[in-house]
Amino acid sequence: MSTSPQATFKLDGRDIPFEPGQTIMQAAQAAGAYIPHLCHHADFDPIGSCKVCSVRIKGRTVTSCTMPASAGMEVESEAPDINLDRQRLIQMLFVEGNHHCPFCEKSGNCHLQALGYHLGMQDTHFVHEYPQHAVDATHPDVLLDRSRCVLCELCVRASREVDGKNVFAIGGRGLKTELLINSPSGTLKDSAVAATDRALSICPTGALMPKRQGFVIPIGQRHYDHADIAQRPEDT
Ligand code: SF4
Ligand code: FES
Repeated sequence: MSTSPQATFKLDGRDIPFEPGQTIMQAAQAAGAYIPHLCHHADFDPIGSCKVCSVRIKGRTVTSCTMPASAGMEVESEAPDINLDRQRLIQMLFVEGNHHCPFCEKSGNCHLQALGYHLGMQDTHFVHEYPQHAVDATHPDVLLDRSRCVLCELCVRASREVDGKNVFAIGGRGLKTELLINSPSGTLKDSAVAATDRALSICPTGALMPKRQGFVIPIGQRHYDHADIAQRPEDT
């Protein structure tokens, strides 16, 4: 009995097989091909908000984490102009927050920082806005520094779908958009969050962190001290 060949599309000229219903990102990840991304995580349904995963198909820009794969499509990802657009998005996130890598305990394990390195970012390009965002240090074991939040909603999805707690939500508009806490006081101390929640471990930046664990991993042993983010697909 013959089996029909698996459908494929081309990613930067490489054949990528896919199953019906898979997105470009899912198929690329399954084939071991890296497309830069930030708000996407393989464990969760995509929301397509950060645009870092944007690719080009027939001159049209689409987010690869939400675009279904289809047979024969030709997808461009590693083009200099596409990577420059990605770099600009990362630079915008840097200036819209307060990301001070040298003294952030997530340094070396941070996806935002690692994407900056991956994309060859040398500076922040835009003028820093130094916005004031509230820190929530009310919980005995969990710290939220909204200045480091990139609004990826991964904690929102993880708290709801894995932890079964629905602690987080995104609210506000424009530059006032921020992470909200679903609790009577709006602070972490009255919420059901715990330091062991998936919502914390999935945070790609130093925004949501367990307390009293800063700098426990020595420099040289952190995820991206020796490996580019493209070489650590298990993290993302
Ligand atoms: S706290 Fe972390 S996981 Fe949650 S939205 Fe902000 S950056 Fe994303
Ligand atoms: S990773 Fe696709 S839009 Fe953020």
